[in-house]
Amino acid sequence: MKDLDLITNSLTDVEQQQIKSLQEWQNRMILSDCLPVLREMPSNLVDLIVTSPPYADSRKKTYGGISPNDYIDWFLPIAQELKRILKPEGTFILNIKEKVVKGERHNYVIKLILAMQQQGWLWTEEYIWHKKNCYPGKWPNRFRDAWERCLQFNRQKKFKMYQERVMVPMGDWANSRLKKLSDTDKIRDPSKVESGFGKNISNWLGRSMAYPTNVLHLATECNNKNHSAAFPKSLPSWFINLFTETSDLVLDPFVGSGTTCIAAKELGRHYLGIEIKKEYYDLAVSNIEKALFNIQAEKSAQKALNSSLPTEAEKVQSSAEQLPLSLEEDLPGKNSEKFLNLADIVDIEEY
Ligand SMILES: C[S@@+](CC[C@H](N)C(=O)[O-])C[C@H]1O[C@@H](n2cnc3c(N)ncnc32)[C@H](O)[C@@H]1O
Repeated sequence: MKDLDLITNSLTDVEQQQIKSLQEWQNRMILSDCLPVLREMPSNLVDLIVTSPPYADSRKKTYGGISPNDYIDWFLPIAQELKRILKPEGTFILNIKEKVVKGERHNYVIKLILAMQQQGWLWTEEYIWHKKNCYPGKWPNRFRDAWERCLQFNRQKKFKMYQERVMVPMGDWANSRLKKLSDTDKIRDPSKVESGFGKNISNWLGRSMAYPTNVLHLATECNNKNHSAAFPKSLPSWFINLFTETSDLVLDPFVGSGTTCIAAKELGRHYLGIEIKKEYYDLAVSNIEKALFNIQAEKSAQKALNSSLPTEAEKVQSSAEQLPLSLEEDLPGKNSEKFLNLADIVDIEEY
């Protein structure tokens, strides 16, 4: 604490105020309509927003849907505040899917994207969440709905992104495809459509991990029975891992059962959740408390395990004790030093 005081005392008033504001908003759940809360928040505070707002008109009975025709007018003031409180290098992930109205997909999501671009957001990317275990069913004019959009918006082209963290194993295709390389595979092969892109397949030789695609194959979770529209924890976790660092602040303004906050905490980030319905707010608080308990229990178990494991010095001492006498005699500093470092032992074993 002394160190922190020292650091904060050396900061300017503005910087001190910024730290204070950040601490005020960290690790909080707020029971409210999100718009007035967002209006209270300081600018440039949040590192990542991941959220799934109520879908237009759907689930009216459970948490009051917004009519598809009113959706943009309802969401834009919220988006405006989100843009203000997001740090310039932060990211906003909006999980949404247009519903079917009168036999066709409504166009409010498309219109919302255009309106948000007008508002100054960059529509950087669209990830697809493929729901591996979507609802069964049969419709006369369409098939089972197995995906949702995760729209990525940013304030500027340069944003924080840590791609290596979400790399995936190359998979079996690599073994067969990379076995027989043609001549063009070994040089940069320009795209046939003259897009300017090219590929050099041989670059993949010897690699075990690859960058993922923008399609996330995640199962919905069936164990969150108390909220009808919870997304799986793996969804916010993937984006939190990709777009934030430890101790960053992650916001979910439509937090429901608290999934985003739990994912954030498990990854060592701070959270802020806002929920309008008391029933879901209580559920989120209780879910977060359980998650914090589990995180703490896991930490304690790990600590206990670490303290029961021999330290490096003990390991080295015990290996030294097991060495044949003649080899022990060759150890450097045998008479002066009881404890040797591991490198000494490794060197000796290599000879
Ligand atoms: C699709 S659900 C989010 C579910 C959440 N992702 C989860 O995993 O549990 C949307 C939530 O937003 C809440 N909500 C609706 N309007 C709101 C508003 N204006 N402000 C804050 N929360 C709101 C609903 O009560 C609902 O719990």
